[in-house]
Amino acid sequence: MKANIGVRLSLVVALIALSFTATAAGPASQNTIQHPLTKAKTISMSETEASNSVPGNNDAFFGPVPKAEQIFYIRFLEIAPTPIPVSKYFFLLIRGWIPASTRQKLNLELAHLAAATLTISSSAVLDDGAKLERSSVAIPFRTVELGEGAHIGIRNATGAYVDHLALEGQNEILTDYWIPGPFVKTGVWTFEVVASLGGEGKEGVCLFALSLTQRLEGTPGW
Ligand SMILES: *[C@@H]1O[C@H](CO)[C@@H](O)[C@H](O)[C@H]1NC(C)=O
Repeated sequence: MKANIGVRLSLVVALIALSFTATAAGPASQNTIQHPLTKAKTISMSETEASNSVPGNNDAFFGPVPKAEQIFYIRFLEIAPTPIPVSKYFFLLIRGWIPASTRQKLNLELAHLAAATLTISSSAVLDDGAKLERSSVAIPFRTVELGEGAHIGIRNATGAYVDHLALEGQNEILTDYWIPGPFVKTGVWTFEVVASLGGEGKEGVCLFALSLTQRLEGTPGW
């Protein structure tokens, strides 16, 4: 089981690296066309967009699973710095909980949270016009080292680091991560993170789903 998780985590790192690896066209950094930053929240938003906007300092929206189907209530999401830089650490903090009424209605048990998964997808429209199709990977949603210097951590309501989300009370999900600039293909990237319950009868029940679109700029080689 442990080895299996190890293999899947290496896959995540590989996927993320792949997402940023040049296909055939050579270094993305040669592209000198300047684009304004994508600032989804500061460009005038439609009402639907505004209501789908995730509370906190971030440029994320609820989706692709509709907000109404997400059972984990997100009080706020901080992404620092925003927009996400390349070749520097960035941090995510999600604070939220599963409302007691939802817990009771769905007969949730700890096992459903212990078996929860995260599906991380990325796609991009590059400056040279190329489209990178959506690719995704699923990993266990728990406190884990994703790779060297990249982690997911979960804290419960009393601040203790725990293996997975707690059934009752507030949870905090923290991540530290960095995207290696030399692997980044310059363009507008869309990332989607979908957290789902696992365990008998609950597979596919969405905890939360977030979508973030922003520009990433590749940097010259190592
Ligand atoms: C948080 O986790 C710690 C360590 O497992 C435990 O002692 C504490 O009771 C938990 N707090 C809550 C509110 O669940």
